[in-house]
Amino acid sequence: MIQFDQNDSNRMMEAKMSTVTDVPATTGARHGFDSLEEETHLDGLPVHGQLPPWLRGSLLRTGPAKWEVGNRTMSHWFDGLAMLHRFSFGDGGVSYANRFLESRAYRAARDRGEIAYSEFATDPCRSLFARVSAMFSPKLTDNANVNLTKLGERFISMTETPIPVQFDADTLAAAGVAYEPPGQLTTAHPHMDRATKGMLNYAAKLGPRTSYRFFLLRPDSSKPEVIATRGVREPAYMHSFGLTDRWLVLAEFPFVVSPPRLAFSGRPYIENYRWKPELGTRFHLFDRSTRESIGPFETDARFSFHHVNSYEEGDEVVVDISTFSDAGIVEDLYMERLRAGKPVAPGYLERFRISPAAGTVTSERLIEESIDLPRINYGRCNERPYRYAWGVGFGGGWIDRIVKADVVERRSTVWAEEGCFPGEPVFVAAPEAGGEDEGVLLSIVFDGRRGNSFLLVLDARSLDELARAEVPHHIPFGFHGQFARA
Ligand SMILES: [Fe+2]
Repeated sequence: MIQFDQNDSNRMMEAKMSTVTDVPATTGARHGFDSLEEETHLDGLPVHGQLPPWLRGSLLRTGPAKWEVGNRTMSHWFDGLAMLHRFSFGDGGVSYANRFLESRAYRAARDRGEIAYSEFATDPCRSLFARVSAMFSPKLTDNANVNLTKLGERFISMTETPIPVQFDADTLAAAGVAYEPPGQLTTAHPHMDRATKGMLNYAAKLGPRTSYRFFLLRPDSSKPEVIATRGVREPAYMHSFGLTDRWLVLAEFPFVVSPPRLAFSGRPYIENYRWKPELGTRFHLFDRSTRESIGPFETDARFSFHHVNSYEEGDEVVVDISTFSDAGIVEDLYMERLRAGKPVAPGYLERFRISPAAGTVTSERLIEESIDLPRINYGRCNERPYRYAWGVGFGGGWIDRIVKADVVERRSTVWAEEGCFPGEPVFVAAPEAGGEDEGVLLSIVFDGRRGNSFLLVLDARSLDELARAEVPHHIPFGFHGQFARA
């Protein structure tokens, strides 16, 4: 564990990197992109260290696990067939189970060896006739490999197509389509509506009059209610959005798509998007009670997948986002590149201040350490001023550290271990916690030296290791998960 502030960050990083990573991170990380075929259930994983006695429940995660189907290989990290993973904690022990998400896309791959649905960057093989038919009824994938959520008593796995898949958290068996978002594109990063305990999410409705939409899905309902809408000609790629007490915050990065091209190009989904930096980044604010929208408020071009947090401060809206300088990260994440050990661009934590009255947006980088896959103490701090975010950081070309950002003191703390490549650190608050960072982080780490993965438990305050539980095989690099308390 190393702590440093912005002024001496470069010196500290140089010192650390010489001991932590003597070879490019991508070299050791490559096998984290191997497919995993086996479905297992293992009780009593070997645990080193001491788990907090209060940690009871399950870390549930989804992520791509298999890229080879028939004689084809999926093109992009985001294309892989979804697998659910569960680490359960109780009585000092840890169990692990994994199972492919039995979607239509998965069944076609398993039963017929076919990529039958359009993924992020991979299309089914089609005859000319089938391609023409597909323009009018695109076979959208239900390969929900990005994130999952608990809504009421339902567990739902999600991707960016409007086919979220419900599943049983005990058996990890798929249980059909959870609900139908009001559009053809959506995000796998919904927010919780504190008032209703429902889910707020985004959808893009494509057609002659394309629009951005926000919707609310109540915990006991399968019928989303559209709560705000705004027309757009070329919608931007949207992976997440921000939320404050008053506003839904839509950050429109200039990676945009023409709906007719999406329908008629015959190219895989993401290859229809175009980087147009001249458009800049445009923030739209949707009032949660009046449903009116204001903006756009414009600043320079950026690209991002992940909002970190947003809140109001005086007359300003503060929007923290993990940003990239451009959309090149999408190219960086093609499987051929990742499996060849090519480096990916790092993202950085940036704060945007929107002044609706002045019509201005300012921005600043909050910490020098790179960070993405960000998490916060969500229940306590989302929509509110906050101090801490946790995420993964990039060194040597790939994710090789866990980063804690103190956005008040502008400092960061790092956990890293040579040859180890962590995934998203999920924060779990200690019961009756006093401090915002009182709790643990749970991260699946791929150990490139031994070729297997382990579940790492860190003290969220200090990033000191509390325990690790070893899995006998590797767990392919994934995206997101949630902790469900027992
Ligand atoms: Fe994401």
